[in-house]
Amino acid sequence: MITNSDIASAMTIRLDALFDRLPKPAEFEPGIRRAPSRHFNLSPKDTELALANALRYIPEAWQEELAPELLQELTTMGRIYGYRFRPAGRIWGRPIDSYRGRCIEGRAFQVMIDNNLDFDVALYPYELVTYGETGQVCQNWMQYRLIKAYLERLEADQTLAVASGHPLGVFQSAPESPRVIITNALMVGCFDDPDHWHRAAAIGVANYGQMTAGGWMYIGPQGIVHGTYNTLLNAARITFGLAADQDLSGILFVSSGLGGMSGAQGKAVRIANGVGILAEVDFSRIRTRLDQGWIDRVVDSPEEAFRMARQFQQKKQGQAIAFYGNVVDLLAYAVDHEERIDLLSDQTSCHAVDEGGYCPQGLRFEELRELIRTDHARFRSLVDASLRTHFDLIRKLAASGAFFFDYGNSFLKAVFDAGVSEVCRNGKDTLDGFVFPSYVEDIMGPLLFDYGYGPFRWVCLSGKDEDLEKTDRAAMSCIDPNRRFQDRDNYIWIRDALKNRLVVGTKARILYQDAAGRTAIALKFNEMIRNGEIGPVMLGRDHHDTGGTDSPFRETANIKDGSAIMADMATHCFVGNAARGMSLVALHNGGGVGIGKAINGGFGLVLDGSERVDRIIRRAMPWDVMCGVARRAWARNEGAIETGIAYNVDQAGKDHITLPYRVDAERIAALVHNHFESGSHATHR
Ligand SMILES: NC(=O)c1ccc[n+]([C@@H]2O[C@H](COP(=O)([O-])OP(=O)(O)OC[C@H]3O[C@@H](n4cnc5c(N)ncnc54)[C@H](O)[C@@H]3O)[C@@H](O)[C@H]2O)c1
Repeated sequence: MITNSDIASAMTIRLDALFDRLPKPAEFEPGIRRAPSRHFNLSPKDTELALANALRYIPEAWQEELAPELLQELTTMGRIYGYRFRPAGRIWGRPIDSYRGRCIEGRAFQVMIDNNLDFDVALYPYELVTYGETGQVCQNWMQYRLIKAYLERLEADQTLAVASGHPLGVFQSAPESPRVIITNALMVGCFDDPDHWHRAAAIGVANYGQMTAGGWMYIGPQGIVHGTYNTLLNAARITFGLAADQDLSGILFVSSGLGGMSGAQGKAVRIANGVGILAEVDFSRIRTRLDQGWIDRVVDSPEEAFRMARQFQQKKQGQAIAFYGNVVDLLAYAVDHEERIDLLSDQTSCHAVDEGGYCPQGLRFEELRELIRTDHARFRSLVDASLRTHFDLIRKLAASGAFFFDYGNSFLKAVFDAGVSEVCRNGKDTLDGFVFPSYVEDIMGPLLFDYGYGPFRWVCLSGKDEDLEKTDRAAMSCIDPNRRFQDRDNYIWIRDALKNRLVVGTKARILYQDAAGRTAIALKFNEMIRNGEIGPVMLGRDHHDTGGTDSPFRETANIKDGSAIMADMATHCFVGNAARGMSLVALHNGGGVGIGKAINGGFGLVLDGSERVDRIIRRAMPWDVMCGVARRAWARNEGAIETGIAYNVDQAGKDHITLPYRVDAERIAALVHNHFESGSHATHR
């Protein structure tokens, strides 16, 4: 029989090699936001399984003392976090030189992970949740400790495999292979639903990585500000015919959420010089955005919110107003008092309604948390009733001129799940989409993703402000503002980025770019590192990108050839990036819309100034973007076909994209019509 001492002596990376003794119970700093209970509902048998699973990380000598504590965490929090293994105090993404490691990538990933868990950055730092209500770096602190230990020992020809937060081990690869491969919550098809996921997470075998939380590439709310800014500007362009050089002066945007990503809305609307009213039920999140200067003022009555908004609209002055209260109350007031709203959306965490991402009308934030724990069924029925009212109000506001778009938070799907089939375009199911467009369907998809523009980003690993300034200027020099309106938007964005004070956490920058732009900027940065002008840089992107995510509810909502339910693109993107040597590759289930509704992937590339990295940039960066453009072109998306044609000409003799022939839609319709009318359809059957 194999004993625990046989097992311990076969491992050099284990918790008892990292600690002399069992760490003391955790202390929680006051004022740090804590995750709600995740609704413990495991059977006794599954509870045993969950406990045994967690104790796999724990040496035998500590198990007796720890087992009751872990059981307590499970039954009260709904998850085992292993709090006492968390390093005490603040965790933050320090300069790369302060981390131990045998290769630069091993140290760079530690910066990224720690940034994702920073008190100033993470939503629930103690529960390893970075953003999006449930998006975790990994499942528990035992995994965190082991991942860090692996990264400190990682060699330049090894690859660390991380499965739903669990570090499976390191294996030999090659210098031009990824240093880490991450997957999160990839479930077998027939079990790929929220209930099975809930159980899998509770028993400790699934991690909800969201996108850049479990992909270690979150850069704070800035990561989403540029996308939100693009979305709002383009929403106004398509709705009110705003010219390419006009901003949002005098336009009112109403939405909800000042959390992880939604917190970007105030900043984005103000940068675009519009007026925003953002409803938020949790005052601590309003406080955070106020402290950052991302919100200008807080009001607690809808009347006051609209009164203030009108003043700033008249002055054509940008302003971000937080309404402390429920968005449904805000919209009810707008309907009752015929307040005109120009752009309307919602960014509550509807992808995680079960976990408390949406606060129903009539409940205060604190009451919501209590009710989830004490009476989940009643909580759900309140949520469903509130979603129905919410949708009804939106319909009324849309009828009086507001342009409503779903912000990729599964709001419309949640309304459908609450029993409202009229929310579906076909009046019965979600296969043909919803009566309101998602922001990707009408805005991001046709105007950005089809051309390859997506949320490219970088982190100056030195931690120096001057490196960020130099990279901003270098990136700006790579953009021709006169090429397309998107380039002009991006040019202005990066020109003003420093002035707009976007950094929270590591010295990072977001900049929407297309394939050629990303490649040029990456090569430029690598050259600057080679010349000693700046320190190393981590490149990456949000998974929410041209080729990164398959999700009919969001990223692939503007794909109309029937393939929106397929996940081939994100899988190819991920594996193609691994084959081309990106330093980190990640593939997740879920993301911003919820489990079973998306497959998404991302990458990280550590720039060290070497020729090796130049080679990786040249072969991986265009692939990462153009695999998505190729798929969108094949789906007959106009902008993507245009981009694909230009790419094939530019790359003649090298890369080559298969493009779709045009067909005569009227002839097809007539042919099919005749077929059904002539009765041959019935004969065939
Ligand atoms: N910003 C983007 O570009 C973007 C893109 C895609 C998806 N999303 C989606 O947006 C959602 C929000 O993301 P997040 O990271 O900000 O999540 P989050 O959970 O950090 O923030 C959501 C906020 O909504 C608040 N809230 C919940 N119900 C409310 C209500 N009825 N009235 C007022 N406030 C309420 C919560 O208190 C919370 O602060 C997610 O579903 C995410 O996937 C955002």
